[in-house]
Amino acid sequence: TDQYAVLGNPVTHSRSPFIHACFARQQHQRMEYRAIEAPLDGFESCVSQFLQGDGKGVNVTVPFKEQAWRLAACRTPRAELAGAVNTLWRDESGQLWGDNTDGIGLVTDLTQNVQVKLEGARILMLGAGGAVRGVIQPLLDAGCSQLFIANRTAEKAQLLVEQFAPLLPEGVLLQGGGYTSVPSDGEFDLIINGTSASLSGDLPPVNPVIVGAHTLCYDMMYSARPTAFCQWAITHQAARAVDGLGMLVEQAAEAFLCWRGVRPDTAPVISLLRQSLA
Ligand code: ATR
Repeated sequence: TDQYAVLGNPVTHSRSPFIHACFARQQHQRMEYRAIEAPLDGFESCVSQFLQGDGKGVNVTVPFKEQAWRLAACRTPRAELAGAVNTLWRDESGQLWGDNTDGIGLVTDLTQNVQVKLEGARILMLGAGGAVRGVIQPLLDAGCSQLFIANRTAEKAQLLVEQFAPLLPEGVLLQGGGYTSVPSDGEFDLIINGTSASLSGDLPPVNPVIVGAHTLCYDMMYSARPTAFCQWAITHQAARAVDGLGMLVEQAAEAFLCWRGVRPDTAPVISLLRQSLA
């Protein structure tokens, strides 16, 4: 049986085995998928050991995504830009390929499931770490009119702006800085929390005047109970507050497509995963 795994540290909390088991059943694919905790100093050997014989593909999570990027001999264009890899496999000649499906997972969740219009949208991104870098280009390509990246460490936001400026689609405004430099003269259509602040129950210090009655707030994190950021959004009367559970399932569907050549139907799996959290 073809074997797949998610490698992380820690990894016990990972929902990827659940999601891929649902996909495999739905698509009648004979495969097994498990979670493996890789030693912090042993990621590479863990990957090469796994990708032998029946080991066909690996998902990569915290803290190994940048290491996976370096390890991949060939990278898809979107992984190249993201600077991080979450999906690995070997081609027929044995070459190790790396892809990043996080950005497309976010954009697919936003447009297909949440059904927000990204064309012409004013977007505020909170955070400038690895998770954010992975989703910038797909957001820019989705046709937004403005993207402001705000981060506690302003320089990291500015670095991202410089990095993506040469690839900016025509007519798109890309800016970045600290939280106090977020323009407060109008509402944003979409505010995305890409910080890891909610892990510790913290909130990025954002001025709530930028939340309007039509603003959608989206947390790239998810949990059984509304995240701190979603609660903040509801308190400030955002139109909607949505967590990142759909993004998780959509990025998994893209990885499944890379490996198995079919894209599973995600809606029933999103419902099942939501139920399993309750
Ligand atoms: P990830 O892979 O999750 O993106 P990361 O690269 O360490 O992890 O980035 C974490 C992000 O969350 C950063 O944008 C970080 O802000 P700094 O760059 O200023 O460190 C942000 N972050 C983490 N804890 C935070 C907090 N308590 N308040 C605001 N931002 C926070």
